[in-house]
Amino acid sequence: MKNNRRNFLKLTGLAGLSVAGGSFLKGLAAESEKLNKSNNKNLPKQTTKQRTQQFNMSGYAAPKLDNVRVGFIGLGSRGPGHVSNMSLLEGVDIKALCDLVPAEAEKVRKQIEFAGFNPIVYTGDAEAWKKLCDQPDIDLVYICTPWNLHTPMAVYAMEHGKHVAIEVPAADNLDECWQLVETSEKTHKHCQMMENCCYDFFELLTLNMARQGFFGDIMHCEGAYIHNLLESNFSKNGYWNMWRLRENDNRRGNLYPTHGLGPVCQVLDINRGDKMDFLVSVMSKDFMMNETAKKLAATDDFFRQFVDKPYRGNMTTTTIATNKGRTIMVQHDVTSPNVYSRIHKISGTKGAALKYPEPAKVSIGDRWVTDEEFKSLEEKYAPAIVKKVGEMAKQVGGHGGMDFLEDWRLIDCLRNGLPLDQDVYDAALWSSIAPLSEWSVAHRSNSTDIPDFTGGSWKTNTPVDILLEKGGTTKVVRSAPPKATGRPVPEGVQR
Ligand SMILES: NC(=O)c1ccc[n+]([C@@H]2O[C@H](COP(=O)([O-])OP(=O)(O)OC[C@H]3O[C@@H](n4cnc5c(N)ncnc54)[C@H](O)[C@@H]3O)[C@@H](O)[C@H]2O)c1
Repeated sequence: MKNNRRNFLKLTGLAGLSVAGGSFLKGLAAESEKLNKSNNKNLPKQTTKQRTQQFNMSGYAAPKLDNVRVGFIGLGSRGPGHVSNMSLLEGVDIKALCDLVPAEAEKVRKQIEFAGFNPIVYTGDAEAWKKLCDQPDIDLVYICTPWNLHTPMAVYAMEHGKHVAIEVPAADNLDECWQLVETSEKTHKHCQMMENCCYDFFELLTLNMARQGFFGDIMHCEGAYIHNLLESNFSKNGYWNMWRLRENDNRRGNLYPTHGLGPVCQVLDINRGDKMDFLVSVMSKDFMMNETAKKLAATDDFFRQFVDKPYRGNMTTTTIATNKGRTIMVQHDVTSPNVYSRIHKISGTKGAALKYPEPAKVSIGDRWVTDEEFKSLEEKYAPAIVKKVGEMAKQVGGHGGMDFLEDWRLIDCLRNGLPLDQDVYDAALWSSIAPLSEWSVAHRSNSTDIPDFTGGSWKTNTPVDILLEKGGTTKVVRSAPPKATGRPVPEGVQR
């Protein structure tokens, strides 16, 4: 993998960046200044919308389903892993599969043959997914497509009587965030954004510790998505039709906030006792994307379309103030050479936690706890879900087990008629930080209000349940999972 990375750097010429130094950066600075001033046609509006809630989906439990019949849309890199997880669970029937590309759909159909599923396959047409949503014997539509398709698909599915699970982020802009909320309230269908990082072990541990008062009053939290995806964004064999690069070549802000944000919002009971008030976002210039596009275009005409685009800058830092006077910092950088980090910092009046750089740490007062103390805290505060299915989740795998836990928990809630851990207000709010950050960046980091998608019900909504006193009954019925067959990731590419 290291060699591939070196080759990529050589190819794009970025290996010489540190040597070229000052003049290179000066040139880019001028270029970036120009882009900041240029009119971005997609610039989001500032929000002033307020509305009365029609029906409260927070804490809402839909009638229980003994058997959850699922249809999946989008079977590229991410979708097949979710199909695989679901194929192992009691009470799941995989009824339909859809991908625009026939080979992707067929690959996944074969993958689940072993379990006796016989899904209808929809493919070969950009609107074939509508037929999947129209299929009457489906309860849940699971969407793993490029971002701009998430909300249109979810809204259509809910309007056709389906619950929806959507990969992150759920929406691309504020109008879409509102559409999700309004449709879920109107149809009484669940709309869960599948923020898997809420199910990572340390995040669950700190949520439980926060609940039990370990940190005292929590004043400040931090999260991030710092993950070097420069190479995969520019890979012709990576994302379908280069969709991720296209998102990054004209939207200037914190485009992927939910991995860092979701877990800390649960710790702070956002939408359930506190709410976000306003944010400011500051973005660095783009130091690498346009330069990469230019280098690649020099030898491959395909990349000409990506030259001199108004690229998002390397680092965006967003700071959010909450109604209760607490703060959240969320960072986004998916182009710089960095070790992966979601930060996950919790800072309270009695103690703190910090996940990255790993290993994760907890402090009491001003000192980190010892390894031995850490182990006993892990035992004492291990959340119920981890005790129940943690080992199985690790065996099944997928981002260290969190992908399995999120899928298991969704199905278990639907089968037991329980409210979901992440409701439509979380989906809308966590996703809205991207377009709001774009607005702030485009306006010299001025502050912007953050909409209250709950229409005021945040004051009385109850915190997400982590005790698992109800439910927890769904078994894993197949012990030898088939290997997820997501599109092979080009060597050296990190997801
Ligand atoms: N939670 C996580 O850790 C995580 C990790 C990776 C990706 N994701 C999310 O998963 C989603 C998918 O990402 P990916 O990496 O799988 O992308 P991908 O490009 O590998 O796959 C997208 C798939 O959607 C299909 N598609 C495109 N248009 C379609 C249409 N009109 N109808 C049906 N199918 C269509 C494509 O053919 C492709 O197979 C994104 O939202 C991404 O943010 C989440």
